[in-house]
Amino acid sequence: MPSRSVPGAAGYEAAPNIALVKYWGMRDERLVLPNNSSLSMTVGGLRTRTWVRFDPGLSADRLWLNGEPAGGGPLQGVAEFLDVVREEAGTRQFAEVRSDNDFPTASGLASSASGFAALAGAASQAAGLRLTPRGLSRLARRGSGSASRSVFGGFVEWEAGHRPDGEDCYARPLLPPDHWPELRDLVTIIADAPEKAVRSARAMQDTIRTSTAYAERLRSVPGRLANLRTALRMRDASRFLELLIAECDDFRHVCETTVPSLDYLTPASRAVLAAVLDLNRTAGSPIAGYTHDAGAHVHVFTFEPNVAEVEGRLRSIPGIASIRTLRPGPAAHPIPATGPAS
Ligand code: PMV
Repeated sequence: MPSRSVPGAAGYEAAPNIALVKYWGMRDERLVLPNNSSLSMTVGGLRTRTWVRFDPGLSADRLWLNGEPAGGGPLQGVAEFLDVVREEAGTRQFAEVRSDNDFPTASGLASSASGFAALAGAASQAAGLRLTPRGLSRLARRGSGSASRSVFGGFVEWEAGHRPDGEDCYARPLLPPDHWPELRDLVTIIADAPEKAVRSARAMQDTIRTSTAYAERLRSVPGRLANLRTALRMRDASRFLELLIAECDDFRHVCETTVPSLDYLTPASRAVLAAVLDLNRTAGSPIAGYTHDAGAHVHVFTFEPNVAEVEGRLRSIPGIASIRTLRPGPAAHPIPATGPAS
């Protein structure tokens, strides 16, 4: 049993993660229990910082995002998440939540994963819940599935589990951030990337219902996951890059065969995918791999000493606003409870 104390204030920091094997489809939407396990890399150099203060004087939850008061969908998502925390902590108090990203939200790197991991950490501490990292991962999952993985640093696996109550459904660290020092994630930020038309949580359930390719994806993911885990452990770059591309292509295939079709890419994103395949053809073996989530920006993975060559090629593609070089990053952690003033 988690220990309880009087609700107060707390702060927490978390980084986004990029899925190398994707979570796509839930067996339980309320508890956010996925159909398959997934594997990600938490990224360094980007962070969300969130402060939560429970206050008996409040008559509703309040939210500030990057210093601006927020309402609508974001506030509703936070309030519903805080309901989960309140239930676990046995409190009815509302809270004031401040959350800041140190990266431009419009850059497309803004992530519900870092947001809900940081919120889970700050809210659970402020509510007096003393959760283990595993418990924190279970809680973050309720806000956004991918947030369960941002609780940990480096390479992280989220176990789908089998239990209907989700007790065995949490992420765990697989390999530390410094495991593969040569690895780089070149994030190509696509100019004019469209706003997401359908929330991922909705879109993935549409895929389950309508994509004829989804059953086959569920059959192939466990094998791909096992192979990727091995390639990572062995630092087998060629195998890692091949598997990354195969998984991303499979994810895109189930999206495109969803009715109505989910097409997240722009012509510039597709040009990035083509450039990576062309680089590999020219090199005679894989020197780069790509992956993307439910959005237009593409993460191009490569290794030293090939980073300059790959980056040079990406820079020649029209329609890319910028390229950001990322490495594996740290686990989520507490920060001082006194955040920015309102
Ligand atoms: O956690 P959500 O609801 O934002 O969904 C994440 C879905 C993908 O980013 C496409 C895949 C993943 O595993 O992160």
